[in-house]
Amino acid sequence: MRTHYCGALNSAHLDQIVTVVGWAHRRRDHGGVIFIDLRDREGMLQVVADPDRPDSFAAAEQTRSEFVLKITGRIRMRPEGTRNASLSTGDVELLAHDIEILNASVTPPFQMDDDNLSENVRLTYRYLDLRRPAMQSNLKLRYRVAKNLRDYLDQHGFIEVETPMLTRSTPEGARDYLVPSRVHAGQFYALPQSPQLFKQLLMVSGFDRYFQITKCFRDEDLRADRQPEFTQVDIETSFMNEEEIMTLVEGMIRELFAKVLQVELPNPFPRMTWHEAMHRYGSDKPDLRVALEFTELTDLMKTVDFKVFRAAADLDDGRVVALRVPGGAALSRKDIDDLTEFVKIYGAKGLAWIKINDVTQLNDTGLQSPVVKFLPEPVLAEIMTRSGAQNGDLLFFGADRRKIVNDAIGALRLKVGKTEGDWRPLWVVDFPMFEYNDDEKRWDALHHPFTSPKPGHETLLESDPGAALSRAYDMVLNGWEVGGGSVRIHQQTVQDHVFRALGISEEQAREKFGFLLDALQFGAPPHGGLAFGLDRLVALMTGADSIRDVIAFPKTQRASDLMVQAPNLVDERQLRDLHIRVRAAEPVKNQH
Ligand code: AMO
Ligand code: AMP
Repeated sequence: MRTHYCGALNSAHLDQIVTVVGWAHRRRDHGGVIFIDLRDREGMLQVVADPDRPDSFAAAEQTRSEFVLKITGRIRMRPEGTRNASLSTGDVELLAHDIEILNASVTPPFQMDDDNLSENVRLTYRYLDLRRPAMQSNLKLRYRVAKNLRDYLDQHGFIEVETPMLTRSTPEGARDYLVPSRVHAGQFYALPQSPQLFKQLLMVSGFDRYFQITKCFRDEDLRADRQPEFTQVDIETSFMNEEEIMTLVEGMIRELFAKVLQVELPNPFPRMTWHEAMHRYGSDKPDLRVALEFTELTDLMKTVDFKVFRAAADLDDGRVVALRVPGGAALSRKDIDDLTEFVKIYGAKGLAWIKINDVTQLNDTGLQSPVVKFLPEPVLAEIMTRSGAQNGDLLFFGADRRKIVNDAIGALRLKVGKTEGDWRPLWVVDFPMFEYNDDEKRWDALHHPFTSPKPGHETLLESDPGAALSRAYDMVLNGWEVGGGSVRIHQQTVQDHVFRALGISEEQAREKFGFLLDALQFGAPPHGGLAFGLDRLVALMTGADSIRDVIAFPKTQRASDLMVQAPNLVDERQLRDLHIRVRAAEPVKNQH
């Protein structure tokens, strides 16, 4: 139907007769002439209809927002002074000879250039929301990212293999989405939380280098960077150690940024151990664009009488830290009160602070604070030395269980700190094998139970599980965990050890992962890999706040699809076929 995309036209097409198709983005009636901004995938073109051609003028008069038009006409320069440098087509306009209305539109629920839409409206009318230029550009970039990653992996000898969606529970630690079996009454498939076990089995099969861009399903609490179904770029290799794997995929991400965003990422990416990241930033995915760092005070506060700090320092898993905010003395009481409320979201009980007016006077004159009177001068002096506090700074304090301090002061660090620089990738390495689950009183795998311990740490698995380090690595970019993986266990004896440390009995291990344990006995090669969160990578690259903005049809925070209205109630008959009876007394209506 068309000769050109709207967005492709410019002064090079001067005086050409062209035909374009698209949507009427906006129509302006300028008494005598009518302007229509015609929009297609590639951009926007200004169309002019004048009364000299009565048929096309009449069509322009009838046109309303989002009508679908086919327009033939001549490209001419816009008059001097009306050119729009922010549009690629901004120097020209199309003088319409013929306007055909291909389809009308009812009044849309919003204008396609409205930037203040509620997410509910956007998701209900997602097909319209996706017409918006920003969303079109997000999805195009997503495609280019996937294409680039695929090309890189192809060039490095990886082959894409599909793995099942109807499978059994996989061990990434979230709740499973289950699918009832009709054929096997009372039995369920699980949707994969990741292809983890299948890709390991493909290594046992000798494929050597596997990848897959695939959906994963996790029933967990949703946030800006989490969806119940999301896409992984999943990778596994044989006969490569962590150095080789990290180098290979780091190259992939560097090439991706260079090709798609023309951004040079550092070579190599910096690395930090998990312990150092927790120590300096209270996070295993620190945003290095923010310079602020924690000052460790736990040891020092074991010596003071001030109960808030002392009690936390004396806890087995307690921590006391300061966060120095350069120039922070300018914060008002109200600012500090607001920040105190903010850290409470993370479980903090308060937020002690000291404003430094004169660092040479460690008393009420030099320091302004609700807590200085509880702290002896040598302790104050030590706090100033450790934090490097200067006149005009402010110190915040967190004192509590380690997790609360890390979460609260870590979030505060990002809230009050300024970001510098655009892109700060980081590898976090040397993760612990296990973390203690206080609710269940047991050790859980920090990554997943197939992650190999570091050489020499095998003996710690049972003797001192908290001290055992793993061969896991995460790629972090600007405070987001964009990918993670590990070298795997390829020997059954080591795998047995890890299951034992996790309190998984031989019987349970057999029941859940028998097929993997069997496979490891048939000459499993040393192997390892990782998976990137494609949605997160693309969100970062587009500058989107949430991964929902880079997924065509995402779900809400409550895991519903507002457009198709899923999940929904099903017929009694379908349930009967599946041997299911719904427990809720009377589910009356669909709820989203
Ligand atoms: P992991 O669980 O770390 O590792 O997941 C890999 C990456 O997937 C992304 N991701 C998510 N993105 C959006 N929504 C979610 N709910 C979500 N959960 C995870 C993150 C994360 O870094 N099998 C292992 C990988 C391996 O060991 O090779 C795995 O799935 O960006
Ligand atoms: P209080 O003794 O409760 O009046 O607290 C004195 C100061 O310590 C106040 O500024 C509180 O905000 C702060 N504070 C209380 N609990 C904590 C905590 N767990 N961590 C950091 N500061 C706290």
